[in-house]
Amino acid sequence: MTTLTIRRPDDWHLHLRDGDMLKAVLPETARHFARAIIMPNLVPPVVTARDAAEYRDRIMAAKPDNSDFQPLMTLYLTEETDIKDLRAAHEIGLVTAVKLYPAGATTNSASGVADFTKIRRQLETMAQIGLPLCVHGEVTDAEIDIFDREAVFIDRVLDPIRRDYPELKIIMEHITTAQGADYAQSHDNTAATITTHHLVINRNHILAGGIKPHYYCLPVAKRETHRLALRKAATSGDPTFFLGTDSAPHTDDLKEHACGCAGCFTATNTLSILAEVFEQDNALDKLEAFTSLNGPTFYGLAPNEGHITLTKGEPVAYPAKIDTKSGPVTVFDPQMPLHWRVT
Ligand code: NCD
Ligand code: ZN
Repeated sequence: MTTLTIRRPDDWHLHLRDGDMLKAVLPETARHFARAIIMPNLVPPVVTARDAAEYRDRIMAAKPDNSDFQPLMTLYLTEETDIKDLRAAHEIGLVTAVKLYPAGATTNSASGVADFTKIRRQLETMAQIGLPLCVHGEVTDAEIDIFDREAVFIDRVLDPIRRDYPELKIIMEHITTAQGADYAQSHDNTAATITTHHLVINRNHILAGGIKPHYYCLPVAKRETHRLALRKAATSGDPTFFLGTDSAPHTDDLKEHACGCAGCFTATNTLSILAEVFEQDNALDKLEAFTSLNGPTFYGLAPNEGHITLTKGEPVAYPAKIDTKSGPVTVFDPQMPLHWRVT
C-alpha cells in the first residue's frame, strides 16, 4: 500500500498554551486535525465557563487564515467548581468535557483535586447531563513509586468513581500501562486515549545512555511490556482506544534543565509516526479508527466530513525544532525513518 485515505483526524488531548506559544504551535495541529480537546492547564487554569469562552476566543484569533480547526474546550475541575456554571457551559455547547487533575500530578496542576470526596456533586451532575470526564490517572503520594502511579490510581481513585457513577463517561487519558488498557477495555462508559510517543518510547529512551529530557513526559513512559500493550490496544481497532497526542510544548531551556518540565511535543510529525507504527504492526487498516472514528463515537459526535491522504515514499525530514517567540521547542524524535506524509 502506498497511499491511504482516511477521515480527517481529531486530537482528543492537546496542550495549546496561550499567547506567543499558542500562535506558534496551533498551526502544527490545525494543518491536519479538524478538532482537538484543549487542555485547561493554563496559569491560572481554565476553571469557569467564562475562562473557557475567553480562551476559545484567543484560540480562534490565533488560528491560521483559512483554517476551519475547531477547539473543543474543557473546564479544569476543582473542589470548588460551581455546578450551575458547569451546567450552563454544557448547555450552550461551550465545553465538551471536564478535566480532572489530581493536585500536583503534572505541569500546572496545583489547583487540581486533593480530596476526591469533594467533587461528588460535580461528578453526579456530569453523569446526569452527559458531560464526559477526562482523567489524568496518577496518584501523587510521594511514597508511591512514579512507575506505579497509574496502576495505583486505577485501584484507589478511578475504580471507586467508576462504581459510584456508572453512567459517567470517563476518558482515561494518555494511558501508559497494560493495566490502564485492560481497565478501559473491560468497563462500560470508559475509554482511553493513547499518545503518539507512548507507542514509540519506553523508559530506556529517557534513561539509558544519558538522560534525555525531551522524552520525559507525564505519565512517564514505562517498561517495554507496557509499550507493547499500548501498541496492541491502539492498533486493535477496538472503539475503546483513540488518539490523544498530549502534544505538550515547553521551550528547550525549560526541558534541558536541572528540574526539567514534563511534556513531549508531537503535533508536527504525529500522523507520519502513527502511519509508520501502524504499518509496522500490519494494522494500517485500523489507523482511521484510532485517529478519526473511535473518538467521535465515544464523545457522541459525528466523524469529520473531510478526508486526508497519506502517501508513502522516501523518508520525510521534519524540523528538529520549531521557533516560538519564547524560544525553540524540540519536536519529538521517534528515532526511526518516517516514510508516510500527509499529501
Ligand atoms: C503536560 C503539560 O506539559 O502540560 N505534560 C505532560 O508531560 N504530558 C501535562 C499533562 O498532560 O500531564
Ligand atoms: Zn496532557
